[in-house]
Amino acid sequence: MIPDALHIELGRRYHFAASHRLHSVKLTEEENRRIYGKCNNAYGHGHNYTVEVRLSGAVDPAIGMIANLADLDAFVNEQVIEPFDHHSLQDEVSTFREIVPTTENLCMEIFQRLKAFPHAKLESVRVVETSNNSFEYAGD
Ligand code: NI
Repeated sequence: MIPDALHIELGRRYHFAASHRLHSVKLTEEENRRIYGKCNNAYGHGHNYTVEVRLSGAVDPAIGMIANLADLDAFVNEQVIEPFDHHSLQDEVSTFREIVPTTENLCMEIFQRLKAFPHAKLESVRVVETSNNSFEYAGD
């Protein structure tokens, strides 16, 4: 007999490709070059990002799931994949006109966009930028 689970977590992984240029409006040109190095080059560069989302909730006894993955996929597509995939983050995503599109900030922006998912509680967002770098945010 399986108990009624009130807290079970689900993880799902998504992918998108985007370009960014690390350039802070709070710094001078010289400071930007010194701090960000080649990541400050004028024409930017791209990454294949992986986004791992974790959500929690109770298992709905009627369907045996926390949330329908089709609903989650549709929400993530609308909030993150469509606006970000094959776009320039600082030129085409309004948040990053003023905020430097580091992967820390990207991770927090994705968390803000996904926390309104109506069928489960968003626990964390992890963004993998390269095989060496990843960032995770679970809200404050
Ligand atoms: Ni980069």
